[in-house]
Amino acid sequence: MAFDHKHLFGLGTLSAEDIMFVLETAKSFKEISTRAVKKVPTLRGKTIVMGFFEPSTRTKMSFEMAAKRLSADTYGIGASGSSIVKGETLIDTVRNLEAMKIDLLVMRHRSSGAPHLLSRFTDVPIINAGDGSHEHPTQALLDMMTILEHRESIEGLNIAIIGDIAHSRVARSNVYGLSTLGANVRLSGPQTMIPRYIEKLGKNVKVYERTADAIKDADVVMMLRIQKERMPKHLFPSNREYAMTFGLNRENIKYAKHDAIIMHPGPINRGVEMSPDVADGERSVILEQVNNGVAVRMALIYLLMGGSK
Ligand code: CP
Repeated sequence: MAFDHKHLFGLGTLSAEDIMFVLETAKSFKEISTRAVKKVPTLRGKTIVMGFFEPSTRTKMSFEMAAKRLSADTYGIGASGSSIVKGETLIDTVRNLEAMKIDLLVMRHRSSGAPHLLSRFTDVPIINAGDGSHEHPTQALLDMMTILEHRESIEGLNIAIIGDIAHSRVARSNVYGLSTLGANVRLSGPQTMIPRYIEKLGKNVKVYERTADAIKDADVVMMLRIQKERMPKHLFPSNREYAMTFGLNRENIKYAKHDAIIMHPGPINRGVEMSPDVADGERSVILEQVNNGVAVRMALIYLLMGGSK
């Protein structure tokens, strides 16, 4: 089987077979990162540009490591330090990179749809590393990989996603992906942060007014960061009230299944969306998510550059 897509913009357009194929490929790459020499020659001679026009720690570093562990040459470009500050457009920037014969562009941008727009002006394959409030497909894939290391299948699982659904590209990609794989997706958060018609993004997607109801009997509880940088104004009174009403803590986690796993894409606002003891507790798989990010990104880079399993 091959991954029959030129770009990866989001999970809204991937089938269950596509998603499982990426996850199986990632599983086979995971072992490379445990070796003393964490490198294979697979993409020797290939050139990958990391275009991060918005801050990132996990995604940027793991894409960089993924590409390097496959022996590709990597170069970084961002908003500051490039000719974008002199007024050059993003489209012109990418056309110039293409003239230098790059093989793949990984791109994070604060504008939803930026990778789609660029794809109309370049032949270079693009991986969306997060576009505004739209999608963050590699995050959702690494989330699914992590869930599958704790459960045999995603089908039929109760997965609660709590917090700032409206501004979360992680939530949107997970709603698409988890729903495609047959999970019951439960969404909860402040009413001001739940978009209308969000249930229509997939099968078995439901909004819960009370966070405790969303968590009840959940197999997975995924907490989201409040994306203050994307909000026009404060959509809740204070961090303290948010934590009391929508935050995960040692009391309300008791509503979930006894072996439920707790996830967060990072960065965490400790004491706001989750208490530190829950973030660092034994059910937390947050650092496993980060670990799987490298394998998932290795798989996608490999597959979009023509690899097959
Ligand atoms: N989860 C995530 O996207 O984190 P970064 O913003 O640090 O990449």
